[in-house]
Order: sequence, then structure tokens, then C-alpha cells
Amino acid sequence: MKIDIISVVPQLMESFFAHSILRRAKDKALLEVNTINLRDYTTYKHGQIDDYQFGGGAGLVMMVEPLVNAIESLQKQKKYDEIIFLTPDGENFNQKMANTLSLKENLLFICGHYKGIDQRVRDHYITREVSIGDYVLSGGEIAAAVLVDAIGRLIPGVLNDETSALTDSFQDGLLAPPVYTRPQEFLGWKVPDILLSGDPVKIDEWRHEQAIERTKIRRPGLDEA
Ligand code: ADE
Repeated sequence: MKIDIISVVPQLMESFFAHSILRRAKDKALLEVNTINLRDYTTYKHGQIDDYQFGGGAGLVMMVEPLVNAIESLQKQKKYDEIIFLTPDGENFNQKMANTLSLKENLLFICGHYKGIDQRVRDHYITREVSIGDYVLSGGEIAAAVLVDAIGRLIPGVLNDETSALTDSFQDGLLAPPVYTRPQEFLGWKVPDILLSGDPVKIDEWRHEQAIERTKIRRPGLDEA
């Protein structure tokens, strides 16, 4: 999979992608993430990419022209399955969307700043608008990084133990059950006997019950989401 990200602060994301799981995905050639500096595509003086909004009001808006130049230039090199704008007024990101996007070949992310991007870019190029939560970040970069991480770890072969993504919270509409590791007892706090029983069927049953219980308490209605 290839993910291109248009940003005014590409340096912000580069170190993030150079580490951990995403680094491994890159080394295995399963995922390639490229950051594109929007300022390279402006014809305005001093690398200008934003301007005051028509009609007045506080806050700058990212201009249509540099964004269209960047998108069109990238589209000459590859066909994107989705062009995604990260924005707080987008559709809420969740595991289901991560699963869907992990099956795509080429994605283009656009990170907004200031008051957002000129509506004409949204109308004519964006295929999907995505929010990572009901709060406003100072730019779309962190949101883009969240999507890349959640999507990247679902690409087969990226995680060492492939089953570990399948048992994540949300994958089956349930939160994950509690987990324990050594020692069996610490300060008198014991690991549940069932996990030490060696009976895989009983352990699976217990985990499923725990997942249901946890979901009922913490996130009722999650399975209908
Ligand atoms: N840009 C600013 N806030 C955001 C959010 N909550 N989700 C996605 N992109 C954003």
C-alpha cells in the first residue's frame, strides 16, 4: 500500500513514520508513506498557501490553487482509491473504516490547517472526509498519523503475529478481554485460575465472556456501531 500525505509541516510526521511498526512495514515493503510539502506547489510569493476568507471572519483558509496543483501532480503518477481530507467535521474514524481502508492500494491524505481548506477542493477532489474525534487539533497531521498507524498495522504481514490484529478491541464489535503475564502472583494479586488451566476451549470461552462483560459496561451498543 502507498499513502501520500499533503501537509504544510511534513517534518512533523517524518519521525513518526521512521519508527516502530510503521518502520517495519516500510522495511518489508508492505507500506510506503510519502509526505509532500504543500509549499512546493504554490506559485504565490514566499511559499504562501493560505489567505483571508471571503466574507470576513477570523482565521486563514488554505488556498485552492496550491492544493489542486499538488493533487493533480500526484494524480499523474498514480490513481488514488481515496483522497481523504482530515477534518473535525468529517465522518468519525473507527476500526471498521480502518479495515476497509487497509484493503486499498493507494491513498492520499490532505492535512488541513488554520480554518480549513477552500471548499472547492472538498467539492471537486475529496472522496472522503474523516475526523478522529470530536475535538479540534491544530492541524490534520496527527489525525493522518493516527489513520496511517491504525490502517498500517492491519496490512497482512506487518504485525509479527498476524492473529494479534484479529484479537484487537473492536475487531468483532467487542472490547478486548483482560490480559496477564508473569508472575502468577504479585502482592497477593492472582492471575485468574482459568488462564493457567491449559484448557484452550475454556480459556476462549472465558475471554469471550469477559469481552462481552467489558463491552456491556464500558461501551454499551458498540456492536451496533
Ligand atoms: N483536524 C483538526 N482536528 C481534527 C480532527 N479531530 N480529526 C481530523 N482532522 C482534524
